[in-house]
Amino acid sequence: MTRHFLRDDDLTQAEQGEILDLAIELKKDRFSHKPLAGPQTVAVIFDKSSTRTRVSFAVGIADLGGVPLIISTASSQLGGKETAADTARVLERQVAAIVWRTYAQAGLEEMALGTTVPVINALSDDFHPCQLLADLLTIREHKGALQGLVLTFIGDGASNMAQSYLLAGATAGMHVRVASPEGFAPNDRVVADADARATETGGSVTLYTDPNEAVAGSDVVVTDTWVSMGKEEEKAKRLTSLAAYRVDSELMALAKPDAVFMHCLPADRGFEVTEDVIDGPQSIIWDEAENRLHAQKALMLWLLERA
Ligand code: CP
Repeated sequence: MTRHFLRDDDLTQAEQGEILDLAIELKKDRFSHKPLAGPQTVAVIFDKSSTRTRVSFAVGIADLGGVPLIISTASSQLGGKETAADTARVLERQVAAIVWRTYAQAGLEEMALGTTVPVINALSDDFHPCQLLADLLTIREHKGALQGLVLTFIGDGASNMAQSYLLAGATAGMHVRVASPEGFAPNDRVVADADARATETGGSVTLYTDPNEAVAGSDVVVTDTWVSMGKEEEKAKRLTSLAAYRVDSELMALAKPDAVFMHCLPADRGFEVTEDVIDGPQSIIWDEAENRLHAQKALMLWLLERA
């Protein structure tokens, strides 16, 4: 049966580990695997803007011997005249895989149900699982292992990044903490799924409202924009509600002395994080951004071997 990657817990702990191992191998020898040689095409569809995802998928598909077909939804029939299911039926006869950045998670599920080629979530309103593979790879590089590490997300707990940290971190056996104000907590169902996964892997999931309490003793501190794509109309309310959840040097000082700071970018310096933290010695954001390439190549290779 075709494997898709629509949310972080589509992979077991062992499978997530296999993909990260493969990413490390690919990072050492970037052109060592050519599963798309022929060349085969991969469709990469964007309903929302992107820099890192667009570039890393395009470069990664080319590295694997394939051709990236970058499609802007605005210039296609998808989302207008044509359903995700019908688009999937058309694409599967011509491409090896479909990568899609969109709004509703349900659209990705419809696309996956309608096709025999792997579908990859390149960000939805609910999850950003490709980013999490890159983040876990980066944490492994800096900390040696994932099991048992304390990872704390500060900010909008209902955001796609926070929810992906819950699922991917729990899958990796990490202790995931999310600190957010009232009204910004993660979805109950996602928390329950992450909790169930953590029970299997030896990790844990804990929600906080106090950022200081959450960050105490953390190995990894992460945040993301307070105004995710699609939330622009709520900007003023969000800046007010989240003002006490800024990651600054005082907050970082509560984490372990060797803690690292991560942000998937793009960042609003001075809002969710201060300049001295994001551009300071604990920040590993540029490794994180580069690792999108290596992690996604490993993911595509792994999925294509099972297609
Ligand atoms: N982190 C991330 O997904 O970046 P882009 O929006 O630039 O793709």
